[in-house]
Amino acid sequence: MASIRLDDPVEIGGLTLRNRLYRAPLLECAGNGDGAPARLAAELEPAAQAGAGLVCQGATIVSETGGCAAPGMTRVADDEFVESLKLVTDRIHDSDAAIAIQLEHGGLRSMETWHAGYRRDHPNLQQLAVSRPPRLLRLLDALGFLDYDAHVLTTEEVYELAADFGRSAALAVDAGYDVVHIAGANMGIVHQFLSPFYNRRDDEFGDGVRFLEVVADEIRAQAGDVPLMTKIPAETAAPPGLGPHLTVDDAVDICHRLADGDYDALVPVSGSVFWDASIVRGSFPADAWNDDRYRDGYADAFGGPLRARLVELGNRVESMWYEFEPAWNAELCRRVRDAVSVPVFCEGGIRERGQIDALLGESADAVGMARPFYAEPELPARLLGTDVSDDTRVVCESCNNCAVPQVTGAPGVCRTSSVLRRAGTLKKEGAYADETEFGGERGNDPVG
Ligand SMILES: Cc1cc2nc3c(=O)[nH]c(=O)nc-3n(C[C@H](O)[C@H](O)[C@H](O)COP(=O)(O)O)c2cc1C
Ligand code: SF4
Repeated sequence: MASIRLDDPVEIGGLTLRNRLYRAPLLECAGNGDGAPARLAAELEPAAQAGAGLVCQGATIVSETGGCAAPGMTRVADDEFVESLKLVTDRIHDSDAAIAIQLEHGGLRSMETWHAGYRRDHPNLQQLAVSRPPRLLRLLDALGFLDYDAHVLTTEEVYELAADFGRSAALAVDAGYDVVHIAGANMGIVHQFLSPFYNRRDDEFGDGVRFLEVVADEIRAQAGDVPLMTKIPAETAAPPGLGPHLTVDDAVDICHRLADGDYDALVPVSGSVFWDASIVRGSFPADAWNDDRYRDGYADAFGGPLRARLVELGNRVESMWYEFEPAWNAELCRRVRDAVSVPVFCEGGIRERGQIDALLGESADAVGMARPFYAEPELPARLLGTDVSDDTRVVCESCNNCAVPQVTGAPGVCRTSSVLRRAGTLKKEGAYADETEFGGERGNDPVG
C-alpha cells in the first residue's frame, strides 16, 4: 500500500495541485496562427476536465526566430500572442486543474540543423550553440545529414538568452499559467549547457548548471514567485565511447543544487546525448514510416527519399537499442528523491495504476504520462475514477506511430487503429468521466 495516494494533493512552490497525476509535456503542433489558442485548449482541456492535477503544455520557444526543435511548435516571445493564451489557461482553470508552460530553445537540435526543407526556406538562420558542435555531429554535417552554421553564444548572449526565458515566463504568468517548466532535457539548449558532450566553454557557463540558475534569476526578476520546475537529464543511454556525458551521479548533483536554489520541482529523465528514441522508448513505428501520406514530407524533412530511408533505418536500430522498459526513469527518480527536498515528478513508460501506486512515495511525488494522452485525452478519469484497480492500464502501446509523422508537420495524434478502437470502446462504455465529476468536487483550488 503506497504511503502517498495518487489523489492526494501535492505542493510545488506554494501552489497546491489537487492530485499527483500530470500530463507530461507533449507537442500539440498548434503553432502561432490565429487558431493556436483554440487548438491548444482543445488538446489540453480534456486532461483537465478528466481530473489531471497538472497539465503541462508541450515545449514553447522563447525566441522570435529560430530555435524550434520540430514543426508546429508554439513561440511565446510575442506579447499579444501570449496574451491570447488566456483562453487556454481559463479553460484549464475552469476544471480546477493547474497548467504549466514549458520554455525551450532547441540550440543545436533546432530545425535549422536537421530539417532540409526548413533550412532551404530559412537559409540565414544559424543555430545557437553552447560550444562548437561536437566532432560526431560535425561528421554528420560533413555527410550532409545535418547542416551546421552554428553561432557559439558569447557570455553576454547567454545572459540575453536567459533573459528571453524570463520574459516569456512573465508573459505566460500574465496570461494565467500557474507553473513555469524549463525544458532542461531532451537535447534542447538547456540540456546542451548541462552536458559535457556539448559544453566545453571556458567562461562561467562552462558550469552548465549556472545557466539554469541565471534562468531562474531572470524568471524571479521578471515573473515573480511562480512555481518553477525543470527536467534534468542523465545521459546514461548514450552509446559507449562517446566521451564525457552526464551520469546518474551528475544528474543527482545537479538536482541537489537546483533544489537548494530556486527550483520547486524536478523531473529527472534518462536519455542519450542525441535527439533520439531514448526519451520515447517503444517499438519501431513501421506503420508511420510506410504511410504513403507522409512519404513526401519525410523526403522534404530529411533531404530526399534515400536519406529518409536511411533515417528510417537508424530509427529501426534505435528502437532495438532503446527498448521499452516500464517506468524506465523510476530508479533515477528514486536516487534524486533521496537527495532533494522538493517534489520529484516521474514520467517515461508509466502505464498502469498499480505501477503508479508503487512509484509514489518511493521514487516519485507525482507521476506523469505523455503518449497515452494522445490515445486517451481523458485518461485521468480512468486512472482516478472509482472503478480503478491495480490493473487499470492505458491503451497506448508505445509504438511511436504518433511521433514520426510530426517531422512532416502532421498533428500529434494516436495513429494506431487498434488502440483507437479500444479507446472508442472504453468511451462508449462510459469509462471516461464527464466534466462535472472532477469539476470542483475532486479538486482543491489549484492556486493554493
Ligand atoms: C511526440 C512527443 C512530443 C514530446 N514533446 C515534449 C516536449 O515538448 N517537452 C518535453 O519535455 N518532453 C516532450 N516529450 C517527452 C514526454 O514528455 C515524455 O517524457 C516521454 O514521452 C516519455 O513518457 P511516455 O512514455 O509516457 O510517453 C515528447 C514526447 C513525444 C512522444
Ligand atoms: S500511436 Fe497511439 S499507441 Fe502508438 S505510441 Fe502513439 S499514442 Fe501510443
